[in-house]
Amino acid sequence: MDAAITVSGLVVDRGRRRVLHGLGFAVPPGQVTGLLGPSGSGKTTLMRTLVGVQQVRSGEVTVLGEPAGSPGLRARVGYVTQAPSVYADLTVRENARYFASLYGLTSREADAAVADVGLTGAAGQLVNDLSGGQRGRVSLACALVGGPEVLVLDEPTVGLDPVLRVELWELFHALARAGTTLVVSSHVMDEAARCDRLLLLRDGDLLAHSTPAQLRADGRSPDLEEAFLTLVRAREEVAA
Ligand SMILES: Nc1ncnc2c1ncn2[C@@H]1O[C@H](COP(=O)(O)OP(=O)(O)O)[C@@H](O)[C@H]1O
Ligand SMILES: [Mg+2]
Repeated sequence: MDAAITVSGLVVDRGRRRVLHGLGFAVPPGQVTGLLGPSGSGKTTLMRTLVGVQQVRSGEVTVLGEPAGSPGLRARVGYVTQAPSVYADLTVRENARYFASLYGLTSREADAAVADVGLTGAAGQLVNDLSGGQRGRVSLACALVGGPEVLVLDEPTVGLDPVLRVELWELFHALARAGTTLVVSSHVMDEAARCDRLLLLRDGDLLAHSTPAQLRADGRSPDLEEAFLTLVRAREEVAA
């Protein structure tokens, strides 16, 4: 199959600043693509363009063959924002069932999504009473309910303990094996190793579009953070 997402010549300004400087790349289907870069590098802005909620200065973004944000994509693309966006005064189960009802789905499908993120034990609890990590997983469950073909997840593992983090990455790969295309952002380079493919952003430029193995080779280090820094320095030398 063709790319699940294609981006070309993407320029985005926020306020009076240019935030994305003409990005171009393609995301293959059925894989976990990591969007890695320091805070402020433009990860959230890029994800917002993928789901069609970001005003774009120029360029093209296509998702599943349609322009990003097309009405036809609404149920096919799931988006979990960096800050959990669920109802604090509803229980975990009620949140998932509410999202299911929006898609015309049953409570069984909602409960399955709650189970997928490991929250069955907390299903009857108010979101207000959950930890930050649990709230993030409620958001994820709500995004999974519709069985979207593309999942865009903005820093889903931030603040999670290492065990939960590993479990979530296993869930991401299970979803990818079932055919879902995932774009997962992180500012922590040690998560890069868990991705099938990597997009490395820095100051709104795409520094590399690669695999972990290729990045290690290009950056001449087994350590991905070290390899990333080598690429940054090489880029700066060219610029100087
Ligand atoms: N609403 C906004 N108005 C103006 N500038 C913004 C806004 N949101 C983000 N920015 C700027 O855009 C740049 C990229 O931000 P963002 O996409 O949130 O990066 P990341 O998610 O990688 O931390 C940053 O310099 C940030 O200050
Ligand atoms: Mg962000």
